[in-house]
Amino acid sequence: MKPLREVLRGHQVICCVGSGGVGKTTTAAALALRAAMDGQRVLVLTIDPARRLANALGLKELGNEETRIDPALLAQAGLTPRGEMWAMMLDLKHTWDALVKAQARTPQQAQAILENRLYQTLSTAMAGSLEYMAMEKVYEVYNSKRFDLVVLDTPPTSNALDFLQASSRILDVLDSNAMKIVLGPMLKAGKIGFKLLAMPTGLVLRTLARFTGADFLRDLTAFMLAFEGMYEGFKERAGKVKALLKSREAAFVLVTSPNPLTIEEALFFHKALRDDGIATAAVVVNRVQRDPRRHGGPETVGLLQEALRLAQIKDAPAAPPLGALPSGKDPAPPLSERLYQTLTEQATLADLDRREIERLRATLSSVPLYTVPRLRKDVHDLAGLWQIDSYLGEHGGE
Ligand SMILES: Nc1ncnc2c1ncn2[C@@H]1O[C@H](COP(=O)(O)OP(=O)(O)OP(=O)(O)O)[C@@H](O)[C@H]1O
Ligand SMILES: [Mg+2]
Repeated sequence: MKPLREVLRGHQVICCVGSGGVGKTTTAAALALRAAMDGQRVLVLTIDPARRLANALGLKELGNEETRIDPALLAQAGLTPRGEMWAMMLDLKHTWDALVKAQARTPQQAQAILENRLYQTLSTAMAGSLEYMAMEKVYEVYNSKRFDLVVLDTPPTSNALDFLQASSRILDVLDSNAMKIVLGPMLKAGKIGFKLLAMPTGLVLRTLARFTGADFLRDLTAFMLAFEGMYEGFKERAGKVKALLKSREAAFVLVTSPNPLTIEEALFFHKALRDDGIATAAVVVNRVQRDPRRHGGPETVGLLQEALRLAQIKDAPAAPPLGALPSGKDPAPPLSERLYQTLTEQATLADLDRREIERLRATLSSVPLYTVPRLRKDVHDLAGLWQIDSYLGEHGGE
C-alpha cells in the first residue's frame, strides 16, 4: 500500500472531513507537517484546535493570521523540515468582514453592513457560517498561490451536505422570496429613505413587530438593503469555491473512529460526497485499539508470571490506596492476574475494532484505508503529530 502522502501528492487543497471528535484537526496538522518535512510550503487552516495543540504550533491568539511554525520549535521535536509549515486558526468574524468588504460595491455599503447589529450577530451565528467561511478562506489562499498546499480542518458537521452546501444555504436565506415578501413594504420604504422605516406598516409587519420588536425589523430591513446587489457576487464566488472542491486540485480525506456508529456516519459522508461528484481520496481510521497479541506476547497467566520473574518484577497484589483501612476481604489479585485481565480486555476491544475496520474496508474497497492506533496520550505537540504521521505510511497503520 502507498503512503498517504503519495496518494495525496499533486493536490493543492486537502480537506479533512468527518464526525465530531474523531481526529480531523489532528490529522490535518499531521498531514501538513508531513508535507512540510517533504519540502512543501504548506498552510494548515484549523478550526477550534485544542488549546494545547495551538500552543504547540505557536498560535497564540485567534485571528486570521497565517503564522509560520518556528523552525526552532520543530527542531526541539527533532524535526528539520525541508519546506515550511504554516498554521492559521479560522476566525469567523474576520473572514466574514473581509468578504463583505471585498464584495461591497462601495466602502459605504460595506460600512453599513459591518455596523448593522443583525449582521454582527448573524455572521457568526448563522448555521453553516463556519463551513462557508472555511471554504472562502481556502479559496482565497489557493488563489493567492502563497502556498504549495492548503490543508483544511473542518468543523464537526452532522453531515457532509451541510459542509458542501453551506454557501448556497446562507445565500438562500438572504435572498429568499419569503424574506422579501414579508419585508417588502419596508424594503420599499427603505429605498425612499430610512426615516420611513420608523413605523412598520401593514398587518404582517405590525404583527411581526409585536413579537420581534420594531428595532429588530428595522435592523433586518437595513441588513437586507445593505446587501442589495451583492448576492450575485456572493453566488458567483460560492460557485467557484464549489468548483475548486470538485476539481482535481482538491482531495478529501475522511477521518473516522472504529466505533460502529461513527463508521456508519463515515459511510454516509462518503456517499454524500459521491452524490456531489467528489471522490474520497483516503480514509483514516483513528484511535484504533492496539492488539496486545500482535507481537506474540505472553498470553496466559502462567506465561505472564514467568515474564515477571525474568524481569525481576514482584508479582504482588495492588497496594491498597493510601490511608485505606484493612477490609478483611480477599487480597487483591497479584500483578500477573491483573495484567492478564487488562490484556484480555484490550484484545477483545481490538477484535471489535478490527471487525468494524474490515466492514469499512469491504464497503469502500476502492479507497485506500489507513489505521492510526490510540496513543497513550492526547496529541498536543509536534512530536505527537509526527508519531501520527508514522502510521500513515506504507503499512497503513499497525
Ligand atoms: N490517535 C490518537 N491517540 C490519542 N489521542 C488522539 C488521537 N487522535 C486524536 N487524539 C486526541 O483526541 C482529541 C480530539 O482530536 P481532534 O481535536 O483532532 O478531533 P476533531 O475531529 O478535530 O474534533 P472536533 O470535531 O471537535 O473538531 C484531541 O485531544 C486529540 O489530541
Ligand atoms: Mg477539530
